[in-house]
Amino acid sequence: MKGVVLAGGLGTRLLPLTKVTNKHLLPVYDKPMVYYPIETLARAGIEEVMLVTGGNNAGDFLRLLGNGKEFGLKELAYAYQEGHGGIAAALALAEDFADGDKIVVILGDNLIEKNIRGGTEDFARQKEGAKIYLKEVEHPERFGVPVFEGAVPVEGQRPKIMAIEEKPKKPKSQYAVIGIYMYDSRVFDIIRSLEPSGRGELEITDVNNDYLRQGTLTYEILEGWWADAGTSFQSLLRANNLVAKKRASKSD
Ligand code: DAU
Repeated sequence: MKGVVLAGGLGTRLLPLTKVTNKHLLPVYDKPMVYYPIETLARAGIEEVMLVTGGNNAGDFLRLLGNGKEFGLKELAYAYQEGHGGIAAALALAEDFADGDKIVVILGDNLIEKNIRGGTEDFARQKEGAKIYLKEVEHPERFGVPVFEGAVPVEGQRPKIMAIEEKPKKPKSQYAVIGIYMYDSRVFDIIRSLEPSGRGELEITDVNNDYLRQGTLTYEILEGWWADAGTSFQSLLRANNLVAKKRASKSD
């Protein structure tokens, strides 16, 4: 299985911090933001990774990350996204790199506490389709939100997801679809069939809904904390604090 880190986009929600640099190069405690998703993939046993980025600071990623040896990767490849056509548009650039393999995609501003190796191993055994991760959150309206059939998930139970709504004004559950997605090679055909959304982007939520309709989307509830560091100054601060706390507990 190969990994893809998506680190394009404009980062307008963090202006002026992102006026002269890419959001994913901003510090989160003691490392640049983009280190964390790469480490998440490396810890899950992924050895070949492609980073997709764009804009004026694309070259800085090469200077920062080099060939990925520091992370224990066998290969770190790069792709350049022109414009900011959405998460699914950025992912489309990884088709040749994926070369028919299953992929684990992670958004460059998503940080998690725990190892997802269990999930990647499960997905390697999954015959076809996709896997997503959900996390209970205070403000689901900021994210992709699953609509469950009947009750919300409780320990050990997995109610069916009927649909995923992108940033709904009235969320139908308290869960967010976090920015870690596992796909089979069909994902690129699905992306080709997408139309831009109201905000002019190819939405990853539309990709996930396509797998849902095929009946091949599985999900996990993420253990440990999750931070989407790029949504607001508050979310960036929260990510810094979570990492600082984790470091402090390790050095106790
Ligand atoms: O963080 C999880 C959420 O991420 C999900 O719950 C939502 O369903 C999903 O749409 C996404 O929402 P955001 O509004 O947070 O996405 P954002 O525009 O911040 O993009 C997330 C990452 O994707 C960003 O760190 C860089 C990458 N990206 C984004 C765009 C628009 C690209 O590489 N290229 C792009 O064109």
